[in-house]
Amino acid sequence: MNIIVTGGAGFIGSNFIYFELDKHPEDRIICLDALTYCGNLATLDEAMKNPQFRFVKGDIADRETVFSLFEEEKPDIVVNFAAESHVDRSIDNPEIFLKTNIMGTQVLMDACRKYGITRYHQVSTDEVYGDLPLDRPDLFFTEDTPIHTSSPYSSSKAGADLLVLAYYRTYGLPVSITRCSNNYGPYHFPEKLIPLMISRALADEALPVYGKGENVRDWLYVKDHCSAIDLVMRKGQVGEVYNVGGHNEKTNLEVVETILQQLGKPESLITYVTDRPGHDMRYAIDPTKIHRELGWLPETKFEDGIKMTIQWYLDNKEWWQNILSGEYQNYFEKMYGERL
Ligand code: NAD
Ligand code: TYD
Repeated sequence: MNIIVTGGAGFIGSNFIYFELDKHPEDRIICLDALTYCGNLATLDEAMKNPQFRFVKGDIADRETVFSLFEEEKPDIVVNFAAESHVDRSIDNPEIFLKTNIMGTQVLMDACRKYGITRYHQVSTDEVYGDLPLDRPDLFFTEDTPIHTSSPYSSSKAGADLLVLAYYRTYGLPVSITRCSNNYGPYHFPEKLIPLMISRALADEALPVYGKGENVRDWLYVKDHCSAIDLVMRKGQVGEVYNVGGHNEKTNLEVVETILQQLGKPESLITYVTDRPGHDMRYAIDPTKIHRELGWLPETKFEDGIKMTIQWYLDNKEWWQNILSGEYQNYFEKMYGERL
């Protein structure tokens, strides 16, 4: 099979490419990625050596690029990871989120309609459900939880999801959607909580915790997300949404404290800063459907996954130090300068 993976130079997309090349060596993977600030070709160095892999630089919202790639490759499956993915950036400047996340999804699906595919898979997020209150630990997101977004990022992802389901109902496009909780693991861009805290703790710099650090996220090791997408795009029901998560709820403070402990750094590095506007309190996934229908279960407990992740950042300093020394410095100054 020919599989187009968009956004494959980013965090989850690259992990997915390595997962697929390993698990399905008979399939060809074509990565389409615009290499925005968070796309990194160095991440795909190993994949480039594999004859079953091809990299194409291009924007999913650019109709000409996308249609000519489909014309050439005639993909069987398209998996869309390409997105603007950072909530804080979406609060600062929403426009590009609408263009990439919604219009880009439309262009990809239009190409799928024209050239015919067996599956279009949309990688979505639990953030489309909004948040849950901290004092109701009995509540979880199911696939029937109403869409109720908080940030421009989650709204753009929800808009895309609705469009995907509309293309199924209106045009019969064979689609599926996974809505996953927060991922962590190798190649995670250091603007996100876990890699940000690891890289700053290693440099003995202040760790900016928003508000009181009591917000809860449901952390999933990235490889477990990859195995869920692999199952859904090959065996999941067409037109269906599957929630993906592994019951690993932690407060932000718990996560930061774990990182400090593992690195042998003092808790005095923790610095409470002004909260994110509209900050979602708690995310928690009920993964019953994907388990019942497809037998999916996560393999990595948070306690093990966080150790592996920290070790990866220790072993791959060059990867993230290159990022920190570039344009990212301006971003950090703009977002945190007055807060720290
Ligand atoms: P990321 O920001 O690390 O990577 C995004 C990739 O998309 C980058 O390689 C970037 O260059 C590429 N890209 C951006 N705009 C593009 C465009 N217009 N055309 C082509 N490529 C473009 O993101 P991530 O964390 O790997 O997330 C991947 C997907 O998974 C996103 O759709 C995100 O919404 C979803 N998701 C992420 C998480 C998480 O915890 N990170 C959880 C659930 C769902
Ligand atoms: P993030 O990694 O941005 O993921 P998301 O907002 O999509 O869940 O943030 C995870 C949590 O960590 C979220 O509650 C916000 C918080 N956070 C901080 O406290 N400090 C930070 O510097 C960042 C980036 C996030």
